[in-house]
Amino acid sequence: MKVGMDQISFYTSQYFLDLKTLAEARGVDPDKYVLGIGQEKMGIPPPDEDVVTMAASAAFPLKEKGALDGVETLLFATESGIDQSKAAGLFVHGLLNLPERCRVVELKQACYSATVALRMAMGLVTMRPQSKVLVIASDVARYELGSPGESTQGCGAVAFTISADPQLLAIDPEAGFYAADVMDFWRPNYLSEALVDGKFSTLVYIRALKAAWKQYAEESGRSLEDFARFCYHIPFTRMAAKAHQKLSRGISDEELEKVIGESLIYSREAGNCYAASLYVGLASLLDNAAEDLSEKRIGLYSYGSGCVGEFFSGVVQPGYRRALLTAAHQKLLAGRTELTFQQYEDIYHYGIPTDGGKHDFAQYRTGPFRFAGIREHKRIYERA
Ligand code: CAA
Repeated sequence: MKVGMDQISFYTSQYFLDLKTLAEARGVDPDKYVLGIGQEKMGIPPPDEDVVTMAASAAFPLKEKGALDGVETLLFATESGIDQSKAAGLFVHGLLNLPERCRVVELKQACYSATVALRMAMGLVTMRPQSKVLVIASDVARYELGSPGESTQGCGAVAFTISADPQLLAIDPEAGFYAADVMDFWRPNYLSEALVDGKFSTLVYIRALKAAWKQYAEESGRSLEDFARFCYHIPFTRMAAKAHQKLSRGISDEELEKVIGESLIYSREAGNCYAASLYVGLASLLDNAAEDLSEKRIGLYSYGSGCVGEFFSGVVQPGYRRALLTAAHQKLLAGRTELTFQQYEDIYHYGIPTDGGKHDFAQYRTGPFRFAGIREHKRIYERA
């Protein structure tokens, strides 16, 4: 029995900052961001958008097309948790009117957690092939203003379902994985911005990749030539390019563009989406590949600082294009509102009130759901 990804839907905020605007404000050559980092825009969530509204907005198109029928478990992957106790997925469960007979849990390991969610989902579906699991990864990448990480911010969510006889990607059983206790990137509970040892983080990303790939290759007997495309965790698109250059030494620029280029299109526009980033890359690849990828094998590398890395793979299923939401994704990215630098800084400084009072948030552009306010420390969500 094949088990894997049946549907995929991507959402990012309706606002973005152009990195040329950031470069001008920070007195940096724009080519550093556009060419050196490989980013053009970064998604910025307004005050009434958070990981819950982005997650629900990503999953909503799947609900509308009936693709969530049969979902028995919702796994919510994030490192932008909004509560120390309650799973953010429960708010999404409510907004989407999912059945009471549903397990809901939140998973955390930096940008890696959606991949362990995928693996757990495969186990659940293998045990009960008539059931489905909804996995949602949703995050806001946020660093201190003026820090080197600032240009690698972003936000977004990806919702995907795992089922038997999947329409998109049958996941292979083999995987290589690696863990080490390192402090390359972290966010203490009392901070709303991540702390990062930037250069070190890029080295650990590669170290984990090499170890995970070696193990995967030994277990599967496959080599790089067995893959039509690769998708990497994308903190910024140049990182994915560098990662593939490390695996595939001496690869030409043309070949590099062929095997990873399509997977980087959405991330260049949305920025880092942390736990969702690898899957933003996969959606980008499936939506944008001019070549029919049916029956082709895709290599995927997931990395979460701290750190855990995993290399795994899947085979694209015949007829996969019929299940894609390409037009909706492209419309979303094309219809966003550009922020001025002042608007970006104002949104950045907007803090969630913590006094337990009654607060209504101004209405900005969002997807189908918005974070309307706070009452007695309870978050209030509503249809936009
Ligand atoms: N024109 C073209 N290129 C230029 C340029 C110009 N005018 N100026 C600089 N560049 C190039 C540099 O040569 C460099 O390229 P190489 O890496 O190929 O040498 C690139 O632009 C970046 O320049 P710097 O190395 O000087 O950049 P920096 O030190 O200011 O910041 C960073 C880079 C450390 C990645 C920083 O953005 C950061 O800390 N980001 C957050 C951490 C991160 O994303 N880490 C990734 C791995 S960890 C992970 O993946 C988990 C996660 O999601 C966070």
